[in-house]
Amino acid sequence: MMINIRYVLAARPSGAASEQHFRREELPVQQLEEGEVLIKVHYISLDPAMRGWMNAGTTYVKGVEIGAVMRAFGAGEVVLSKHPDYAIGQMVTGLLGVQHYAVEKGAYLTLVNTAEVPLSWYLGLLGMPGLTAYFGLLDKANPKPGETVLVSGAAGMVGSLVGQIAKIKGCKVAGIAGGPEKCAYLLEDLGWDIAIDYKHTPDMVARLQETLPEGINVFFDNVGGDILNAALTRLAIGCRIVICGAISQYNQSTPIGPSNYLKIVSARATLSGIIVFDYFGRANEAINDISTWVKEGKIKYREHIIPGIEQFPDSLNKLFTGEHQGKLLIQNS
Ligand SMILES: NC(=O)c1ccc[n+]([C@@H]2O[C@H](COP(=O)([O-])OP(=O)(O)OC[C@H]3O[C@@H](n4cnc5c(N)ncnc54)[C@H](OP(=O)(O)O)[C@@H]3O)[C@@H](O)[C@H]2O)c1
Repeated sequence: MMINIRYVLAARPSGAASEQHFRREELPVQQLEEGEVLIKVHYISLDPAMRGWMNAGTTYVKGVEIGAVMRAFGAGEVVLSKHPDYAIGQMVTGLLGVQHYAVEKGAYLTLVNTAEVPLSWYLGLLGMPGLTAYFGLLDKANPKPGETVLVSGAAGMVGSLVGQIAKIKGCKVAGIAGGPEKCAYLLEDLGWDIAIDYKHTPDMVARLQETLPEGINVFFDNVGGDILNAALTRLAIGCRIVICGAISQYNQSTPIGPSNYLKIVSARATLSGIIVFDYFGRANEAINDISTWVKEGKIKYREHIIPGIEQFPDSLNKLFTGEHQGKLLIQNS
C-alpha cells in the first residue's frame, strides 16, 4: 500500500504563515476512479499567491478549506492512470498540492516535455510564473524599443523574467530589489541599466527621480504599497502600469492603496491587472519564445530548491523575507 505524506491547512493566519497553520498527515493513497491519474509529485512550487489562498472567501479563486491539502502547483510523474491521455512514466504539471502523491482528474493536468529542459522549469520559467511575466509584459504593456521599463520585485521569479524580456525587446530596464547582492545580480548578471536597493534607500521618490529623469513608459509592479506609490511619481505620458501582485500587502489584514493615484490622470496612464489563468490557453506561445531565448543565451534563470516536504511550513515565508535567490521550490525525496 502506498502512503501519502501531505500538509493540510490547519488554521488561517493573520499576518505571516508559519508551522502552526499547517498539519502533516500520513495516509494511504486513495483508489483511482475513471478519468483520474495518480502522480508522484517531484517538485512543489512555492508561490506568493499561496498566502492569499490561505484566507477565507473567494478572490479570483476560492480559498483553501480548513483540513484540505494546501494548494500548490506541482510537477511529477504519472504512476497509475485511468485516463486515456496519460500513460505511466509521463511527466505532468498541475495544482497537485503540498504532498508526495496526488490523485487528479486528467482534464486538470498538463503533459510536459522534459527531453531538453528539467521538469522543475515547468513550475517557473516555463510554467505559471513564466507565463505571467511573458503575457503581463507583452500583452498588457506592449513595450516598444527605446522605452523605459521599471520592474519591482525585480530579482524574483516573475520580475527577473519581465526585465529580461524587456531587454530583448530593446527597452531600458530598471529594477527595484532588496539588498546589494540582488541589485548586483540585476546589473552584472542580467545586464540591466539601473538597480535600486529599496531596503537601503530611505527616499524612493528622490532616488527614482534621480535615476529615471525621463520618466517610465511601463511599470510592472509585483510589490504594491510604498513602492507602487513612489513609482507613480515617475510616470511618462501614456505609461502602462501592470499590477501583477502586491507582495508587500499579502500579510496585511488591510492592504493600503496608493495616495499618488492622481498621477495616473496627469500622465494619461493606463493601469491593468493580470491573472495568469486567463492565458493558460496560449501557454505554448510563451513556452516557445522563452525556450528559444534560453537557447540563444538571452535569458538567465536561477532556482532555489529546498529538499524535503518537511521544510514546507518554514519555507513559504522566504518569499516574504526575500531570503531565496530565484524560483523557490520544494523537492520531494
Ligand atoms: N497576477 C498573477 O497571475 C500572478 C502570477 C504569479 C505571480 N504573481 C505575483 O508576482 C509577484 C512575484 O511573484 P514571484 O513568484 O516572482 O515571487 P518572487 O519574486 O520570486 O519572490 C517574492 C519576492 O518579493 C520580494 N518582497 C517580499 N516582500 C516584499 C516587500 N514587503 N516589499 C518589497 N519586496 C518584497 C522579495 O524580494 P526582495 O528580496 O527583493 O525584497 C521576494 O524575493 C507576487 O506579487 C505574486 O503574487 C502574480
